Amino acid sequence: MIRSKIAGIGMYVPANVVTNIDLMKYMDTTDEWIQERTGIKERRYAHRTKETTTTMGVEAAKIAIERAGITPKDIDFIVFATLCPDYYFPGCGVLLQRAMQMKEIGALDVRNQCSGFVYALSVADQFIKTGMYKNMLVVGSEKHSFGLDFSTRGRNVSVIFGDGAGAVVLQPTEDENRGILSTHLHSDGTNAEILAMYNPGTHANHWVNGQKLADFDNAEIGQMFFSHSMIDKAQVFPNMDGQAVFKVAVEKFPAVIRESLEANNHQTSDLRLLIPHQANLRISQYVQKKLGLTDDQVYNNIQKYGNTTAASVPIALCEAWENGLVKEGDLICLAAFGSGFTWASALLRW
Ligand code: UT7
Repeated sequence: MIRSKIAGIGMYVPANVVTNIDLMKYMDTTDEWIQERTGIKERRYAHRTKETTTTMGVEAAKIAIERAGITPKDIDFIVFATLCPDYYFPGCGVLLQRAMQMKEIGALDVRNQCSGFVYALSVADQFIKTGMYKNMLVVGSEKHSFGLDFSTRGRNVSVIFGDGAGAVVLQPTEDENRGILSTHLHSDGTNAEILAMYNPGTHANHWVNGQKLADFDNAEIGQMFFSHSMIDKAQVFPNMDGQAVFKVAVEKFPAVIRESLEANNHQTSDLRLLIPHQANLRISQYVQKKLGLTDDQVYNNIQKYGNTTAASVPIALCEAWENGLVKEGDLICLAAFGSGFTWASALLRW
């Protein structure tokens, strides 16, 4: 039986550190509020004009590829997860293929927000298990800082998010006790608008649950998905009902982690490390308590980077590995929850 193993891992975060105190220049917030509610102390923001979601993904990918002992020309397929792509279309996968001068391989973009990396990893895992490809590149990258509302109106969202990228190279292994043991993917779109960015979009059905998502004056041909009043009314920023998201997150995170353990006849005590998507330190602490995990069994770095959505799991995994917390033979669980809602887990033996 063929399994996929992580043969190389890399991360990239921009040099520019933005503290909670820095954000006070733009909006009515405090360091105390942000730290108490989220655990975040600082985050990184990409260079406004010189860095993009793709360029950060490239930096992380270079490291992952080098650590796998291969070159960009050896990559057989790209899966790129992001919610803030460089362009509305085409996706970042092809931009990375071009930037890294790879062969004319397939490139797929995954749009699953905070769960994006775990979804992308699962897609890549299937290609390896079927024997179709030998070197899969999986990237999660985000440049949130370009699309947030930095006025007080947007403070509940903008203080949370940060920029960065993570990447892994997956390769086949015939060692049954190594690699990705299973992945578990879920969605429930009932409350899709609770955590969403509606515009630009083709919905045109602009009232959802009593809320006006966009200022369309009419449905005439020529009506664009952007209007001046959408900008004036802040309908071009991410929208989030934080408390509603929090409630579902603390239910789905533990469930999908348990699901991965049960599928492989493991218990929480077998886990060397849980790498949860870095949504909010309070969510991670709640999940840790609910599963009865020790402090050593859960990795958190949201304090330094904020929530980097699709990049958060590979950044945390890479940092934990670089710090010597992930060693050969360790049982590792990756888990994520976010917009959609979508949630997912992957259990792997390093
Ligand atoms: O990756 C997955 C995506 N998202 C999540 O996982 C988010 C999950 N939810 C959360 O993390 C939390 O709900 C937040 C951190 C977003 C918000 O924390 P909260 O404890 O749920 O606060 P709240 O939204 O209920 O707001 C409480 C108060 C409000 O003021 P009033 O109405 O009580 O006067 C807000 O206006 O805090 C105010 N507030 C702020 N104050 C200072 C909201 N944002 C800020 C801010 N600074 N940045």
